[in-house]
Amino acid sequence: MMRKNDWYKRMSFYQIWIRSFKDGNGDGIGDLYGVLEKLPYIKELGVDGIWFSPIYPSPNADFGYDISDYKDIHPDYGDLNLFKKVLDKAHELGLKVIMDLVINHTSDEHPWFKESRKGKDNPYSDYYIWRDKPNNWDSILEGEAWEYDASRGQYYLHLFAKKQPDLNMDNPAVREEVKSILRFWLDIGVDGFREDVINFISKKEGLPNGLPFVPVINGMPHYKDGPHIHEYMEEFREVCEGYDCFQLGEGPMTTVRSALKYLTGPDRSLDMMFSFDHMMADCVFTEYVHRPFDLRKLKRAFTKWQKALDGKAWNALYLENHDHPRVMSRYGDGRYMSLKRKVPRYWKESGKMLAVSYLFQQGTPFIYQGQELGMTNIILDSIDDYMDVSSKNNYHRYHLKDTVERRLKRIHVSSRDSARTPVQWSGGKNAGFSDTDPWFYVNSNYDVINVEAEEADPESILNFYRKCLSIRKNSKVLIYGSYREYFANDRHIYMYDRSLGKIRYLVICSFSRKKERVRIPKEYAGMKGKPVLCNYPVEKERGSGGVFRPYEARIYKFRQD
Ligand code: GLC
Ligand code: CA
Repeated sequence: MMRKNDWYKRMSFYQIWIRSFKDGNGDGIGDLYGVLEKLPYIKELGVDGIWFSPIYPSPNADFGYDISDYKDIHPDYGDLNLFKKVLDKAHELGLKVIMDLVINHTSDEHPWFKESRKGKDNPYSDYYIWRDKPNNWDSILEGEAWEYDASRGQYYLHLFAKKQPDLNMDNPAVREEVKSILRFWLDIGVDGFREDVINFISKKEGLPNGLPFVPVINGMPHYKDGPHIHEYMEEFREVCEGYDCFQLGEGPMTTVRSALKYLTGPDRSLDMMFSFDHMMADCVFTEYVHRPFDLRKLKRAFTKWQKALDGKAWNALYLENHDHPRVMSRYGDGRYMSLKRKVPRYWKESGKMLAVSYLFQQGTPFIYQGQELGMTNIILDSIDDYMDVSSKNNYHRYHLKDTVERRLKRIHVSSRDSARTPVQWSGGKNAGFSDTDPWFYVNSNYDVINVEAEEADPESILNFYRKCLSIRKNSKVLIYGSYREYFANDRHIYMYDRSLGKIRYLVICSFSRKKERVRIPKEYAGMKGKPVLCNYPVEKERGSGGVFRPYEARIYKFRQD
């Protein structure tokens, strides 16, 4: 069936990880009251929709990604009535709302699992994946992938944390449950779903052993893009076809080739997919092996996806989410920052340049809460101060021969918790996030990096994001135009253009903290471009090449006659 609508192509989204967004009822935990209060802020940023990371009841072993009731709201965040109010208000403001659909696993405190673990003869016994003997798979978040359950006398599979048992998607009853969850939220009026680790939901029959000696992802060949994945996806798509609904998959470790199977052709089951290649320009699989940032790796990843999807499918563009440290600290000037500095030297310049580097590619941009402020990683003194299950697991399980300092440093650069500190709303108490002590540490740089200060500063990162989003929204070329990269081998400059008809935009980003001489592509020689955007105050008309200042970014518009 053809999609009725491709409204998502013109949009951009803001991602809310609610626990740290804004506390509205004074208990130190972000909630829907806070979201309601801040909807105008989100609207003013210039986005067109919100993606809520899970806001359902959850014991929070993986902060919401372990769900114990799919059809309700976590009492910490409000209730269904409050959610409906938020949804109505968002719609009134012209914002779409998409929910997180986490169906690879539930919480072990979900009633289905509580029943299932009782024994082999109850209606829920086959809702999960039980075996007498485990295979050799590792889990992604917490040690081995199998946990023994004494009451059932068997092992259950968990590809993520121990408290996240994998659902058995081969059981038709489980798929019916998923469809009922989809309908429940669509009937309330939500506009779509971000589908968590969706390429993992079909496991190879017999669950064969994975590769020996490969940690963490050894079983992946047997559960990524598994044998029945497209059939199951088709069933879910059919439900969504009944509504004007948009589906975005999260595809950890997905390749272009496998992503295109979800995004194109008769089996098309998703409108977009989050890929991960560009998240590995400074590491191998975020938390495990760190390397110095390599711009050429980042560019290769960007360009690979831009080219492969052009004219066939549509990219989901992002630099941050709740699963990665802050991009300012990874690909921005924060990567050079000594621990003594609160804010990187070229904080504003590099924060704005990073915005330019991805917002003008072909695709739908996603902005993660606080990214628009240039928030940075948090440095905590002890592993015990961290909350994230995978940070703790990595610290206690890998690189054990290293010193405590080195292991902690690895956590400083890699922890997902850096994305999960409270949003910095003001320079006041608790960064304006809450009247009471927040549930998690506030980054100490909130006196400099916060919404209030950035709203007052016309040259702030926040105001620059607003400008970028409005430029993108008002240009067909920047939305639909094709993409071409120049000087792919350059180690400091990322340059691409977007073209449609006679119009071309040339986007130039310097990832260097030094001055860099920039050449203009041959085919632009002799053409005069109109400057559209620059992340430095522009004193005088400059040619389109020349010397770029640290982290300078510019966009020029050309017309070919
Ligand atoms: C996704 C989520 C991540 C979670 C995992 C398991 O990758 O984004 O936060 O830990 O799935 O649900
Ligand atoms: Ca609260």
